[in-house]
Amino acid sequence: MTAGGVPTTVTIPRAPAPARRRTFLTFAPPQIGQAEIDAVVDTLKSAWITTGPKTRAFEREFAAFVGAQGALALNSCTAGLHTALATLGIGPGDEVITTPMTFCASVNVIEHVGARPVLVDVEPDTLNIDPERIAAAITPRTRAILPVHYAGHPVELDVITTLARVRGLAVVEDAAHAIPARFKGRFIGAGPNPTAFSFYATKNLTTAEGGMLTGEPAFLEQARTISLHGMNRDAWKRYDQGGSWHYDVLLPGFKYNMTDIQAAIGLCQLRRQDVFQRRRREVVARYTAAFGADPALEPPVVRPDVEHAWHLYVLRLRLDALRIGRDRFIEELTARNIGTSVHFIPVHLHPYYRDKYGYAPEAFPVAYGNYLRLLSLPLHPGLSDRDIDDVIEAVLDVARTHRR
Ligand SMILES: Cc1ncc(COP(=O)(O)O)c(C=O)c1O
Repeated sequence: MTAGGVPTTVTIPRAPAPARRRTFLTFAPPQIGQAEIDAVVDTLKSAWITTGPKTRAFEREFAAFVGAQGALALNSCTAGLHTALATLGIGPGDEVITTPMTFCASVNVIEHVGARPVLVDVEPDTLNIDPERIAAAITPRTRAILPVHYAGHPVELDVITTLARVRGLAVVEDAAHAIPARFKGRFIGAGPNPTAFSFYATKNLTTAEGGMLTGEPAFLEQARTISLHGMNRDAWKRYDQGGSWHYDVLLPGFKYNMTDIQAAIGLCQLRRQDVFQRRRREVVARYTAAFGADPALEPPVVRPDVEHAWHLYVLRLRLDALRIGRDRFIEELTARNIGTSVHFIPVHLHPYYRDKYGYAPEAFPVAYGNYLRLLSLPLHPGLSDRDIDDVIEAVLDVARTHRR
């Protein structure tokens, strides 16, 4: 810069760089080991790479793992939710009650079948759908309730299922985060409700992309047909020895099948779940012990009677104790090389839903108020003790530096 032809130097005051780890700590990398790699190679070298014997084996083992009566492997949780709603015959003129504190997929599928999503606010502690508000939102058009086990903490399943039974409604559970979670000792997915799991890359069990629908065998049989073009016989049944080339199309179904390449990964991941889960719980215990005493930080709650899947560690900030907001808090963690995320931008803030249904941000004050102060910290079995220390050190440092 020049002033009157004389060069000047402008010194911009800079905050001292925060202490930070040397490499960026990724928020949720997949846990792929040699077993998964070998299983994929083995499948690629076999004569069958799409839906076939490995997918069937994965369905059987997954069902046994959660204690489900049956399981249908699909290419995503979204596909599972969509297939479930279509199988229930939910469509135009119907309403489905769900939560704003979720990923858009839970609500998009209701739009996909032409029904109206009816959002109700969440409980302030778990951020799960509030059963009392569900009861108040039921109308003669309501056909189903679609609860989401947020972060892996089971919803109040007894209350919701009883309410649904009394009012003649279906319950379709979004269990994208809930592998493995238990409500009153029973695994999520073990009951009769259609329940959709996600095997997306960041999930507790991954097949890169993938999903599983559990439920009653008769329901799953119908869902299986709907999820594969409406055909009464899949390719494996047609091409395998003794199979027949003939099939009937019973309705215009979807193309939602899982491949054997995905299932091969899933089988390995399923066998590692106990080890994965043990490490997740260790990480959570360390985080909660470290953050619980800080006046600006609020660790997640776990209600009695549940086993949390710990898909996410959602830390809430007490904004009145800080001089910065959540967004800046995240920036400060990024500057310290700690990856984070936000789960979720509530559905009613997204332009499509905001504009279509005319929602103001405060329409769901609990979801909105918590959205402004929450962030998700790295939580996965690959975290080393040093990584955990780095996260704790960084979070406490940001909280201390910006305390009011
Ligand atoms: C709560 C919830 N529901 C549904 C989904 C969709 O899962 P998928 O990507 O397997 O379709 C996700 C994905 O992140 C999710 O978080």
